[in-house]
Amino acid sequence: MKKSLIAVSVSFALLNMSGVVQAAGDIDAGRAKAASCASCHGENGNSMMPLFPKLAAQNEGYLIKQMQAFKDGSRSNASMSAMVSGLTDQDMQDIAAFYSAQTVTDNALPQLNPDDLDDIDDNNELTADEKTAAKKALQKQQDTLMALGYDVYRNGDLENEISACIACHGPNGEGNEPASFPALKGQHADYMAKTLTDFKAGARSNNPDNMMHMIAKKMTEKDIKAISYYVSTMK
Ligand code: HEC
Ligand code: HEC
Repeated sequence: MKKSLIAVSVSFALLNMSGVVQAAGDIDAGRAKAASCASCHGENGNSMMPLFPKLAAQNEGYLIKQMQAFKDGSRSNASMSAMVSGLTDQDMQDIAAFYSAQTVTDNALPQLNPDDLDDIDDNNELTADEKTAAKKALQKQQDTLMALGYDVYRNGDLENEISACIACHGPNGEGNEPASFPALKGQHADYMAKTLTDFKAGARSNNPDNMMHMIAKKMTEKDIKAISYYVSTMK
């Protein structure tokens, strides 16, 4: 009896949450209101800078929640607090509707690109064999990181009690719109590594039940790099 009561009140709470989040935003109004955001987040929410998050195709409810958090100070970032301080609830809904309707661009494989060696060795100081060996070593590091990222995303890490990301962020990194869990696919690896480190340290802590802190605190630096690297290439 007790159990089912709890289940009922939880589903009411969820209904209420999604009711707030689904308030309608106007895409065209949002486009105009987002003009001042383009210098950092890109014209259509596809930022070119690895530490400025992409907002394109992000879930509306999540975007609104983050803008509110920067405004009320529960998520801190000096540039962002200044940018949202003058926005009304309606502005935030319009801006979120605009960004979520955009398409997120794909990322190239970040860092460790074996082809970069051709640029590094401008003066042709490496022999062909040395170059091949160095490329192979880099390729192996890259493959190992990708495989670790893939594994943690899908299966979690039982031994270290890291929950599988797929449960909340979806099979293709698309997030969960009704629950306002953010999409991760196509996000910059550097931004994700930074924000996971913030969750881990408790510097970013405005999320429900501190969910991401509980998960990130169990992740090593290598886990964070691997998962950010893998997720940034999800389509
Ligand atoms: C000077 C650069 C700059 C400008 C201009 C800017 N932002 Fe940001 N924005 C950032 C940075 C940097 C972050 C990441 C902060 C962090 O690391 O926690 C961010 C984060 C965000 C996030 C959270 C994204 C996520 O995935 O969690 C949202 C939403 C956002 N910005 C919306 C806006 C809107 C709307 C505007 C315009 C009104 C705007 N930003 C203007 C730099 C900027
Ligand atoms: C139980 C659900 C849940 C699980 C499991 C989960 N997350 Fe999250 N994640 C969330 C929620 C909710 C947020 C939004 C937090 C907020 O509102 O600030 C989030 C936010 C994030 C963000 C920030 C996105 C942005 O745009 O700033 C990243 C990155 C992330 N999660 C990565 C992961 C990774 C990697 C894993 C697996 C190791 C994982 N998450 C597992 C629920 C989850």
